[in-house]
Amino acid sequence: MTLTDKSAFETGDANEHGYKTFTIGGFTFSRDEFFAHVSWPTGRHVLSVDTFLRALQRDVAWDFFYGTVNFDSVIGTVNHYGTVDLFAGRYNEAYRRAELDHVENFDTPMLREAFKSMLDDWTNASYDPFASPAETGKPFGVKDGFNTEAVTRRRIAAARMVGVPGDEQIRSDEMGFPINRMFADVGQEEPVVEAEPGFESEVAAFNLFAYLSRSNVTWNPSVVSVCKDSLYCPTTEEYILPVFHGNDRVEWFVQLSDEIIWDVQDRDTGAVRSKVVMRAGDVAAMPADIRHQGYSPKRSMLLVWENNSADLPELIATGRAPQYPIDF
Ligand SMILES: [Fe+2]
Repeated sequence: MTLTDKSAFETGDANEHGYKTFTIGGFTFSRDEFFAHVSWPTGRHVLSVDTFLRALQRDVAWDFFYGTVNFDSVIGTVNHYGTVDLFAGRYNEAYRRAELDHVENFDTPMLREAFKSMLDDWTNASYDPFASPAETGKPFGVKDGFNTEAVTRRRIAAARMVGVPGDEQIRSDEMGFPINRMFADVGQEEPVVEAEPGFESEVAAFNLFAYLSRSNVTWNPSVVSVCKDSLYCPTTEEYILPVFHGNDRVEWFVQLSDEIIWDVQDRDTGAVRSKVVMRAGDVAAMPADIRHQGYSPKRSMLLVWENNSADLPELIATGRAPQYPIDF
């Protein structure tokens, strides 16, 4: 099997609903008009195809992200940065106790290609899994075309900073990024930069609020500035974060506008840890041993601040670095 072969993970013809069925390792994924069905050697699971596609889209676009991406309380992935665990019930105490949980480890490119094929086949023409539900069609029904352009969106990842020559550029109407309906009042003035001669390519500044007001996706942290391992990953949020993100490092949140309500659970068992309400100006640090899901009643701006150091998961897992960011 070659990884570029789109059919490598498909099992034959489309089903009666028009969708392909996919297998990878011992896992089989199929969908009908409303649900994704997942089976593995010791069990099976069903979840809304809306939830499933929104989560799958993030896992694909983020290349499995930091730590754990829980599609729901049963299905998800753990990134080992080179390989990825695909699991069912592994971080669910009841499944563990009943010994129905299952984990398989794959080389990252293999699972990435399988997920990309499934996302493309299962996403119909009018549905965009990255969009707010208020700004896209429905994911339900029989197979009805493709939306390949949306599901293969390039993720913004600045090498230094948005606006620096040769790097990611600021957004504009001309580039196809109109101001979102919920951010019509956000000022669009850009800062004036007066660099000394010879430093024009070294000095840059941009209006982050204006930049975010033109984001056409939700719950998709993208890198706008980089200082060594310090990544600023702001994002706009509306409705529900489609995954429970399980951290393998501390993650800082700065609420830039409006409000997000966070459900915070134990990363491994799903036991409830806390409910966090963040309003504009609030700052929080999510510890390295939790999972979290956010609810944004109105489109809001969130700055996610990530430490990209490859050493962190191991340092934290072995107790040489703390699960939390700071001692008071
Ligand atoms: Fe997170």
